[in-house]
Amino acid sequence: MADAVHVRGLTKTYGSLAAVAGIDFAVPEGKVFAFLGPNGAGKTTTVEILEGLRRRSSGEVTVLGLDPWDDGRRLHAKVGVIPQEFRFFEKIHPVEAIEYYAALFGTRVDAMGLLRRVALEDKAGARFETLSGGQKQKLGLALALTNDPTICFLDEPTTGLDPQARRAIWQVIRDLRSEGRTVFLTTHYLEEAQILADQVAIIDHGRIIARGTPDEIIAQHGRPPRLRVQAGPGMAPYLREALGVTATFVDGYVEVPLPNKHEALRILSALEGSGVPWEGFATVTDTLEDVFVHLVGRMDDGVLKPGAPP
Ligand SMILES: Nc1ncnc2c1ncn2[C@@H]1O[C@H](COP(=O)(O)OP(=O)(O)OP(=O)(O)O)[C@@H](O)[C@H]1O
Ligand SMILES: [Mg+2]
Repeated sequence: MADAVHVRGLTKTYGSLAAVAGIDFAVPEGKVFAFLGPNGAGKTTTVEILEGLRRRSSGEVTVLGLDPWDDGRRLHAKVGVIPQEFRFFEKIHPVEAIEYYAALFGTRVDAMGLLRRVALEDKAGARFETLSGGQKQKLGLALALTNDPTICFLDEPTTGLDPQARRAIWQVIRDLRSEGRTVFLTTHYLEEAQILADQVAIIDHGRIIARGTPDEIIAQHGRPPRLRVQAGPGMAPYLREALGVTATFVDGYVEVPLPNKHEALRILSALEGSGVPWEGFATVTDTLEDVFVHLVGRMDDGVLKPGAPP
């Protein structure tokens, strides 16, 4: 399968700051790619270079086979964009906004159909300045779809949305993928990335620190499965003593590594024999968010700390 986005050795410096410090990744056509990282990591800088809005300092970049800076005009016809913190003319209403965008692209569009798609049809005639934050985001998504794009760049499209609205946007993203479009998503909601993304890259201090499918990243960087028991702190030393395991007391639960199912039986019978009160238990595995929290912050000033994963 061809790549919709190809990036090699990309850098962007602002004065002495290397906001993007040499990154490589590819986004396969027709997939959802989530670009994750803490505030100031370099996501928007990268996205805007891919959109042709900022000039890179060095490196190779192609989007749909085009150089976004040199071939911006041709590229923009095929790209849908929601910028971070989307803004628009205060007095315009959503239908007018969509028609305005369509006119810029020289196309005709079913404005109400697009608004229905993002669950905003009830605000079709409301002035932009009266829309809530989430409704503005939804309009941004509708505008991004106005030109029937091959690839959409969505920079934090669900920030500030309520859970229902967020799920409505997730469905739009799934639909975009099922129509064969490529979606480049940045988000601070790791759950959203884990649910939606085919491929993920995590950027920190301008460098990519993990890449792959969500499952691959969790398998590579996450901790092994654990048995989590609802019990008092006294249970952890008891299990360490009785079983020779590395039981720890975390957030009100005792956690014990679970290399295999037989170990679960051994732990459960030790719990019964402990005399320490305990309630329920569950097996837990790391989420993408657990891995993200663990990985990010292990770098300082762009230098990996000893023992940190590459
Ligand atoms: N135009 C600019 N001039 C100078 N520095 C900039 C400029 N734009 C971004 N930066 C700096 O580059 C770094 C990366 O910023 P960027 O906006 O790409 O981060 P981000 O990953 O999108 O963060 P967030 O999650 O907060 O949106 C930050 O340190 C930021 O202060
Ligand atoms: Mg940003």
